Parts: sequence; C-alpha cells; structure tokens
Amino acid sequence: MRLTTLYSFVFLSALAWLPQFTQASVLAIDYGNDFIKASLMKPGVPFDVLLNKDSKRKISSVVAWKKGDRLFGQDAFNLASRFPLDTFPSLKVLQAAPYDSEVTSYYTQISTAEVLESARKTVLLKQSDGTEWAVEELVAMKFAYIKHLAELVANEKVTDVIVTVPAYYSQFERDAIADAIEISGLRTLALINDGTAVAVNYAMTRTFSTPEYHIIYDAGASGIRATIASFTTASDPKTGASGTHIAIAGVGYDRTTGGVELDRRLREILIDAFNSKTRRDVREDKRGMAKLWKEAQRVKAILSANTDATAQVESLAWDIDFKQKITRAQFEEKCKDLKGQFAKPVEDALKNAGLTIDNITSVILTGGSTRTPMVQAALKAAVGEDKIALNVNADEAAVLGAALHGASLSRQFKTKPIKVTDISVHDIQASYFAASSSSTSRPRSITTLIFPAGSKVGTKKVLTFKRKEDFTIFLDYKDSFAPGFPTRMLEVELGGVTEAIANLTERGAVDPVVKATLTLSESGFVSVTDAVAFGEIKDESIAGKLKGLFGAGSSSNEEATAESAENIPPRDTESASASSTSAASSASASPSAAPEKKAPVENTITLTVDTKFTTIPPMTVDEKKKARSRLRAIDAEETAKTRREEARNTFESYLYRLRDLLDEDNKDTPFKKCSQQSERKEITEKLEESFSWLADRGDLAETSQFLDKRIALETLEKPIIHRYQEIEAFPQALNNSQMWNWSTRLFLHEARQNLTAEIAADLPSKWTKEELDGLERTLKEHEAWLSEWVEKQKEVKPNEDPVIETTEMKARAKVLETHLQKLWKRKVPKALKKPKTTSTTATEAAKETGAGANETEGDGADEPEIKVEFDDQQVPLADEEEKPGHDEL
Ligand SMILES: *[C@@H]1O[C@H](CO)[C@@H](O)[C@H](O)[C@H]1NC(C)=O
Ligand SMILES: *[C@@H]1O[C@H](CO)[C@@H](O)[C@H](O)[C@H]1NC(C)=O
Ligand SMILES: *[C@@H]1O[C@H](CO)[C@@H](O)[C@H](O)[C@H]1NC(C)=O
Ligand SMILES: *[C@@H]1O[C@H](CO)[C@@H](O)[C@H](O)[C@H]1NC(C)=O
Ligand SMILES: *[C@@H]1O[C@H](CO)[C@@H](O)[C@H](O)[C@H]1NC(C)=O
Ligand SMILES: *[C@@H]1O[C@H](CO)[C@@H](O)[C@H](O)[C@H]1NC(C)=O
Repeated sequence: MRLTTLYSFVFLSALAWLPQFTQASVLAIDYGNDFIKASLMKPGVPFDVLLNKDSKRKISSVVAWKKGDRLFGQDAFNLASRFPLDTFPSLKVLQAAPYDSEVTSYYTQISTAEVLESARKTVLLKQSDGTEWAVEELVAMKFAYIKHLAELVANEKVTDVIVTVPAYYSQFERDAIADAIEISGLRTLALINDGTAVAVNYAMTRTFSTPEYHIIYDAGASGIRATIASFTTASDPKTGASGTHIAIAGVGYDRTTGGVELDRRLREILIDAFNSKTRRDVREDKRGMAKLWKEAQRVKAILSANTDATAQVESLAWDIDFKQKITRAQFEEKCKDLKGQFAKPVEDALKNAGLTIDNITSVILTGGSTRTPMVQAALKAAVGEDKIALNVNADEAAVLGAALHGASLSRQFKTKPIKVTDISVHDIQASYFAASSSSTSRPRSITTLIFPAGSKVGTKKVLTFKRKEDFTIFLDYKDSFAPGFPTRMLEVELGGVTEAIANLTERGAVDPVVKATLTLSESGFVSVTDAVAFGEIKDESIAGKLKGLFGAGSSSNEEATAESAENIPPRDTESASASSTSAASSASASPSAAPEKKAPVENTITLTVDTKFTTIPPMTVDEKKKARSRLRAIDAEETAKTRREEARNTFESYLYRLRDLLDEDNKDTPFKKCSQQSERKEITEKLEESFSWLADRGDLAETSQFLDKRIALETLEKPIIHRYQEIEAFPQALNNSQMWNWSTRLFLHEARQNLTAEIAADLPSKWTKEELDGLERTLKEHEAWLSEWVEKQKEVKPNEDPVIETTEMKARAKVLETHLQKLWKRKVPKALKKPKTTSTTATEAAKETGAGANETEGDGADEPEIKVEFDDQQVPLADEEEKPGHDEL
C-alpha cells in the first residue's frame, strides 16, 4: 500500500474544514537540487504529491530556454546537451553564494551555465542571448511553475507555501529562498528543515507509547544531514486527547558531500576515459560536458543495482561516439576519500544530542543518494544494519510532512496534534563595542553567545545594555559555516538612545537601560525585533512604594545580560522575509507598544531599530518588485504566445477542413449539396489565398489576424452550413407544429362537446364559448401559415436559402401551445375556495355551489393528467411551468 493511500484513510478523515477562513490551500515544496516535489493541502482535494503534466511525482529542478521557449522539469533537463548555456540545473547549491566563493567555482564544474557577479556580490546566470538572471529569479520561476500546477489541481489561487530547507542553511540562504518565494508570487508560511518534515510525516501515522529517538538520514544531491528527533506521545490531562511531541535533539551535516559530488566523480571517470582515447579534452565542449553529466547520472543509477554498466554517448564531442564500461569498484575507488563523510553526520548528530546509537530506535533513510551502495555500506557500518528502517518509504516523506506541518500552522485544518520543537544548528553571537571610558582608549568589543547551536527556534532573548548613546549590535555566526561565506549576518543600529535615556533620567529614573529583543524565528531567521529604553521611576505614592518592595529586580553589574524569554508561543504564520528584511523598515514604522509586562508604559521608550545587511544582503523590496514584474512579463508573453499558437493551429486545421470539404472527390456530401458552384468558387479562392498567407506570414502574424482570416472564411461558409442545419431541423420542426395543431384540434373538439353538455346540465364550465372561439382562431392562423409556407419550402432546393426558418416555426407553434395550455390548465370554478366569487354573477355562484360545495382537494393535489393521443403516442400537454389553475380566474 502506498503511504499516501494510508494517509487518505487515517489522516484525511480527521481533516475538517472551517468555513470562516478563506485562504483554503497550503502548498508544500520540497526543494531539492535535482528534483522538486510538491504537495497541496486543500479540503476536498485528495492529499497527495502533485503531479506535473507528464504525471511525474518528482519534477526535475531545472529551468531552461529552447530559443524563446521556457521549459521546466524533464524537458528542461534534457535541453542541457543542446543548449548548455540556457539550462539552469543545480541552483540549490548557489543560494546566496558569494560570487567569489568555492561554491560558485564548484557550480561552474557541475553546470554548463555561465555565471556573473551581481551588484549584491552574489551570482547572476547569463543566458546565451545575454539575459541575466539572479539565482533567486530562476528559483522563483520554478516555484511559480509549481504554483501553477497546484492551481490547476486546486482550481483556485494558491498563495501560502511551506518550503523545505536543509537544517544547515544559514540566514543568507534562508533569505534567498524566502526572496524566491516572494518573487514567485507565493507567500512564505514557513521554512521547515527537511529532516524535521520527515519526522512530522513519520509521526502522523504512529503513536509512541514510550519515547523514541529516530535518526532521519538524508543523503540528497547537494548535502548530507542526519537529524535526531525524539517522539513522545502523551495525552492531554484535561481533554484526554493524545498528541505527539517531536523535538529535534541534534543535527549533523555535510554541506559538500552528496549526490552531485558522486555524479561529478563518476563524470571524471568518463572524462578521463574519453580524453585518453581521443587525446582531446572534452571539458572544452560544453555540450559534451552536459551530455556526460546526464550520462554520469544514468550510470550511477545502474551501478546502484549492478556491479558494472556501460556508458554510451553518441557524438559526444567532435562527432566522436563514446562507449566505456564502468565498474562499481572503479566508481567506489574514485570516491574512496568520501567514505568517511557519509557516516560522519550521524556521529555529529549523536554527539550534539548527547546520545549514543543505543538510544536510537531506527534510522530512516531519505534522499536519492541513500540508494548508492557505498553510502548504504558506510551507514550500516556506523549504525548497524538492524537499525536501518527498511519499511519506511521516505522518498516523499519530506514534502508530505511539510504539507502536514503547513496545514497545522495555517490553522485552517484540523490536523492530528503534533507539536514540533526544532533547533538551529549554528552558534549565533551578538557583539558590540563597550562605551569608551575615555576618548583616547580603543573601544573594547564585547561578544555574547546569544543563540548557541541547539537553541530552540521560535524563541526570543532580551539583551540589557547600560548605554547612554546610540550604538550598534553586530550579529554573527561564531564560526564559518561554509567556505567563502561571511560570518557577519546583520548590523543593527539602535537609535534614539541618547534622548530616551536623558528623558528617563530627567524624570527620575535610576540607572535606565536599553533592552533589545533578539528573535530566532520558527523558520530560523535571527533579527532584532524590538528595542526600548527602560528605567524605573520612583513612584512616591504608597502604592508605588509597595510595588517597589515586591517588584523591583536587582540590576546586574554586567555590561549586558541575556535573559531568555521562555514560553513564548511559537509564531506560526510569520513571514520569513518579514522577520529579517522588514526589520530594516521597522525603524521608520510607528513604534509599537513595548512588550515589557513588568514595566509601566511610561517607563519605556521605544527605540529605533535599523537593520543593515553589510555582507550578503537579501534582495531589497525594490529589487524584488522588479524581479516580480520581469517574471510577470515572461508569463504574459508566454500566455500571448500560447494564445497565438492556438489561434494559428485552429486556423490551420480550419483551412484543411475546408479544403477537404471542397475536394472534387467528395461528391454528394452535405456541403456540396447545400452549396452552389459560385459559392464554392469564392471559398476556394479565399482558401488558397489564406493558405499562401499562412505560409508567407504565419510566423509573424498576430493572434487577431488568424482570427480575422478565419472569420472571413466562416462568413462565406455560414450560409451553406445554415442551409444544411435547416434541412436537418425541418422535419422535427414540422412535426412539432403539426403536433400542436393536432392537439389543439382534439382539445377544441372535446371542450366544445363538454361545454354544450355542461350548459345543458346547468353545470359550471371551465371555459366560455368565446374563449374556445379565440383558440380556434389562433389555430386557424397557425394552420394557414403552416400550409402556405410549408408548400413554398418544399419547392426550395437544398443549395438555396430556406424560405421559412425552423426558429420561426417553433415560435409560431409556441404561440399556439401557450394559448392551448392557458385554457387546458383551467380548473372547474369552485365557490368554496374563492371568496372572490361573491362578486361573480348570481347564476355562476349558484352553479359553483351546486357543483363543488364539498370539494376539499388541495391545489393541484390530484391534477387531472390529461394526455392527447397523437400518432399512437402519448403526448403530455403540460410539461412545463405548472401554474396553479386558479390564478386564471
Ligand atoms: C541513552 O542510553 C543510555 C545507555 O543505554 C542510557 O543510560 C541513557 O539514559 C539513554 N539516554 C536517553 C536520553 O534515553
Ligand atoms: C519624555 O518623553 C515623553 C514622551 O515619550 C514626553 O511626553 C515627555 O515630555 C518627555 N520628558 C522630557 C523631560 O523630555
Ligand atoms: C414526428 O413525431 C412522432 C411522434 O413523436 C414520431 O413518431 C415521428 O417519427 C416524428 N417524425 C419526424 C419526422 O420527426
Ligand atoms: C370533458 O369531460 C370529460 C368528462 O367529464 C373529461 O374527462 C374530459 O377531460 C373533458 N375534456 C376536456 C377537454 O376538459
Ligand atoms: C393541422 O392539423 C389538421 C388535423 O390534424 C390537419 O388536417 C391539417 O392538415 C394540419 N395542417 C397543417 C398545415 O399541418
Ligand atoms: C363533505 O365531505 C366530507 C368528507 O369527505 C363528508 O364527511 C361530508 O359529509 C361531506 N359534506 C357534504 C355536504 O357533502
């Protein structure tokens, strides 16, 4: 059974849709270097992985251009060997990468795309036509493509997205992803560490009677990470409902060893083989390199199940065909130095979590590279074969787990209660210069580890400073997290300190301080979210003195004290970019009330917080706006192109259809029968003209021209089609007219008889003689018209326009029908039911009393079912709009 089938059973039954919310769907994207997987959570839509147009469950993480056409997925991936400069794979490794970093030069080894330096000192990619794209823009295109797929399934706009990121991603990389999301037109619900997402998915169908630790070992294309998660199921003492708590205990990772590196090594073998045979360097041929990259991936997959494989590329370079047998042993030899790397993240994670392998219940494997025997062997050696969970299909676990987590964050879904406590993996410190004691001494720098590795995300810390002037807090990674990346994250200037402290002092505050709140958001962003000046002002009243006795905190002697603000409810729907970038703009925003609960408001003065990105800045609001309109322009262009293509295709197939109709060989066709020689000649001329126009101008013509040309031809064809349609519709229309003709006659005959009988018996009657005469006149008119024009129509040849239209026949029959229905629906007048009848004449009233004094049937309760016989068939008279008959009185 597929995992997903299991969910639809276990999980979706617990999903409930709360109608008061309008934002219905949550998109989850598992953004991988080689593949993207996506899932949509929407009420009424089966919860599963999104398929692309080729029904693929995983989509190649590539965007490419073939001449002017933009392609995604496998189509894009396949283009690399033909358009090496216009194919952009493996962008995940380039997130926020400084142009002059190892990552960038590594990228140029694994991709044939051309890289340039951006104004932000990050990477731009250049298409063959010179168009330059920021990495964020290309990633945004992929996200927008996924958004589009999701919208086709959801049948509505999809905006909220949760995207997976490796736990080791720095603030810079997270910002880059958040920017790409924004440019794509989506909104960041959260970023989730991919290992954590797998853990959520794992917990969804399980309960844990005793706490368990599991390692999620993810060997992806661009890196390896091991995430240790503890699972605890407990029931709420109040409600009795059980919920599972997932706490990430430790993470280990390797940012460079992964599937991409294995592919690269394997390609090295192929390159060497080709070069030694040909005595040329295939590295000089971008197309050849792209072909070999694809072939290396294919061979690697074969070597996962076989001990040897044959690499084969036709016309690899310089028209030389390449064929080479590769053994698994050869491949493993080439990767020998990596062997220790595969298991190291597990060891690191255990160490960080303070656990040993004996504490681990199982190791869940995920990520494409875990299929490589070499990786599996290394892992088995490290953790023991029995620890490896074989029954867990974790390939789609990250995207499904992310979707489940996203759904719980959005609060529009009722999901199984799963609480997640994640951690950050890098030491983050704050530093600042101490207030200089004299003007000559160099300012002393003070550094505090503010969020050490392993800190829970979704927490805040408050730093207290004894400062009297504006100053700057620097936020840094304690250690370099990747070669070439800076460690400086932010510089945060606190402004308005001088005035605020002076103000508080003047009002009698003793030792006023500056308090800055540092937030580590759920999505792993660090920022200074708030800063205030605070001072205790002596309250001379009795109440104030009492409060002073109990409430006053002793001020520390340290320059700065970090106090952890515990129990802060997780901020769920935070916007990732807001938590980092908008901190910059919050300086000018109106100051919000300070969150200090203990301090009376007047003791607290909000300071300005000005965040500066001095190393790798995220995109500015303006840059993102521009990027967004660039993407929109492409979308609009593509839509126009598609429309034009459609118009052209429709026009072309219309021309062929017409040509076929005119074909000499097609004799006795309705088209021929209903058309005249002269008409066919005219159409033929116009058709030939259109064909040559299409051949000459088709590539340049605009959508409207195709439409206009088609309409011109259709106008000529229309009378012929009309004749044919009229010939087809005539018998039915005539039948209909005669039927009403016939029915009316029958009715009149019977009604007149009844009327005569009723008059004779002095009974009330439904109609007067005049009314029946009126109907008869209508009938006669109808008959007269019918016989005259039907005769005329019979003389008309099929290729001549009809003299009467079937629509008119129907309309006239309708007049008769309506008249007939009006009389037929009448009920026998009743004295009891209509008090109004008192105003009728005495004779009528008498008749009514005599006939129906005791009639109590309700309106239409047993309406007589009158049917008239016609051509041996029962034809119901009234089959529409049953008006209560009494209205007629
Ligand atoms: C891990 O295992 C050791 C030895 O079996 C045990 O003493 C320790 O309590 C375990 N730690 C946790 C957190 O379960
Ligand atoms: C202190 O600031 C408050 C407003 O924040 C203002 O009303 C008050 O006048 C100031 N006091 C002094 C002494 O500057
Ligand atoms: C006319 O209607 C009758 C009864 O509905 C049907 O039997 C007959 O085939 C119809 N004739 C045509 C030409 O539609
Ligand atoms: C004429 O009277 C008979 C007998 O009461 C009745 O069944 C029939 O429906 C009446 N015909 C019309 C057209 O009302
Ligand atoms: C109308 O119906 C009557 C009775 O069936 C028939 O004799 C007459 O020919 C019909 N008239 C036309 C124009 O169809
Ligand atoms: C009226 O009908 C009711 C029930 O159908 C019957 O009991 C009653 O005797 C009738 N009255 C007359 C006046 O016919």
